[in-house]
Amino acid sequence: MGAQPKKYSTEGAVDASHYLRCIGCASTLEGPEAAEDFRCRDCGSLLEVEYSDMLAGRRTEWPEVWKQRRASHLPLDRSGVWRFRELLPVLKDSQNAVTLEEGNTPLYPLPRCAESVGIDHLSAKHQGMNPTGSFKDTGMTVALSVAHERGFPWVACASTGNTSAAMAAYAARAGMGALVLIPEGKVAWGKLSQSLDYGAVTCQLKTDFDGCVAVLAQLVRRAPVYLLNSVNPYRLEGQKTPAAEMAEAMDWQVPDHILVPGGNLANSSALGKGFSELLALGLIDRLPRISVIQAAGANPLVTSLLQYGGKHLDPVQAETRATAIRIGNPASWQKAVKTLQRTGGWCEQVTEQEIALAKAEIGADGVGCEPASAVTLAGLKKLVRQGKIERREKVVLLLTGHTLKDPEYTIDFHRGGLLSREELAEMPPEERMQAGKLATSPIALDPSVEAVMRVLDAAVGS
Ligand code: F0G
Repeated sequence: MGAQPKKYSTEGAVDASHYLRCIGCASTLEGPEAAEDFRCRDCGSLLEVEYSDMLAGRRTEWPEVWKQRRASHLPLDRSGVWRFRELLPVLKDSQNAVTLEEGNTPLYPLPRCAESVGIDHLSAKHQGMNPTGSFKDTGMTVALSVAHERGFPWVACASTGNTSAAMAAYAARAGMGALVLIPEGKVAWGKLSQSLDYGAVTCQLKTDFDGCVAVLAQLVRRAPVYLLNSVNPYRLEGQKTPAAEMAEAMDWQVPDHILVPGGNLANSSALGKGFSELLALGLIDRLPRISVIQAAGANPLVTSLLQYGGKHLDPVQAETRATAIRIGNPASWQKAVKTLQRTGGWCEQVTEQEIALAKAEIGADGVGCEPASAVTLAGLKKLVRQGKIERREKVVLLLTGHTLKDPEYTIDFHRGGLLSREELAEMPPEERMQAGKLATSPIALDPSVEAVMRVLDAAVGS
């Protein structure tokens, strides 16, 4: 059933000119023909969005158009996703897009982290600076817009908290119903509060994320809800746009290396797709390495690569305080393996102690992030120690979530209650010392100037 993709147009509203291709058996189908669970009906693999004509020629005028849109006052142009709409013609009419002016996130230098890691150029692409505080907004604006345009009244997702926050917000903007399945007790408060505030029907299931996915996979076959997990290939189209933002911010050069947290393993491949398309368009002249970092307690990709060269994946029982990536059976692992292979990236795992220290170090650079994002800095340290990243390389950490998503984790760390005695004992002494130096507990004082002065004097003198 080969699709006959329509002609791509750069005029006016962007015409839907995409089709879907199975990453397993390469069969193609029209967008609306996809199964409810976005798996190939022939082989069960995931689908990918492809464009018929977009990559046919060099589109050298686009970067100027994209830059000019930033100065426009139209929401679609001000969105850091839709201003790149030539790269994602998935809607019949781009005016159907549901946007919160997502994207256009900052690329912050991390000078202190760079020094302590021992490299010259380190930045953070902070996807936590999106409207709902995570990178999910960039994908959600695209996939939810597709659902909206196709007339679905309800959307649904299983989530560790950020997808559900983003979906609930965009659904509310579009006046659509939102059904959220989350693992009970394993979602950070900031994220749960968002889902409630945006009015989603929020179900806490007595299982983990993987269990929520299993329930939802059956539900979408029985109820007319549109699935917005990252198996939905339109999510990845939005999540690829930070590639264009990074290239644009570096004058259409690319960093040498980008480190991405790995959970359900869609985001790494979205970025890889973004850079690959820019390369095919002639807008960049090489690919950055994209490496995936997992928490040691939720490391199925690390294990798959070690044991099976990435050809097979055994699910694991996931456990980590970085609840966003507490995932044992990642849906998009095959896409992530392809990205690692295509870009020459590595896959590493980092311990709970390494995540906690890295998060505090990113915080001390005035940037901050949620725990799952901090795996990137912890992974970078390992790759530098292994000699896989050299001092002169330009490295970018993809920070996926805002520090306010999980304030409990941060407060526990600073009050000294996050890591267990055993975990602290396992830390190398210099790392334990560094963590101790960074921990800053609140100081309870009498309401007197003298008391505060004493504290300030001690701080200035230290
Ligand atoms: N970082 C954060 C903050 C996340 O919320 C997630 C995933 C990831 C990294 C991993 O990205 O799954 O594409 O590999 N969160 C999902 C959710 C699973 O439901 O919010 P991935």
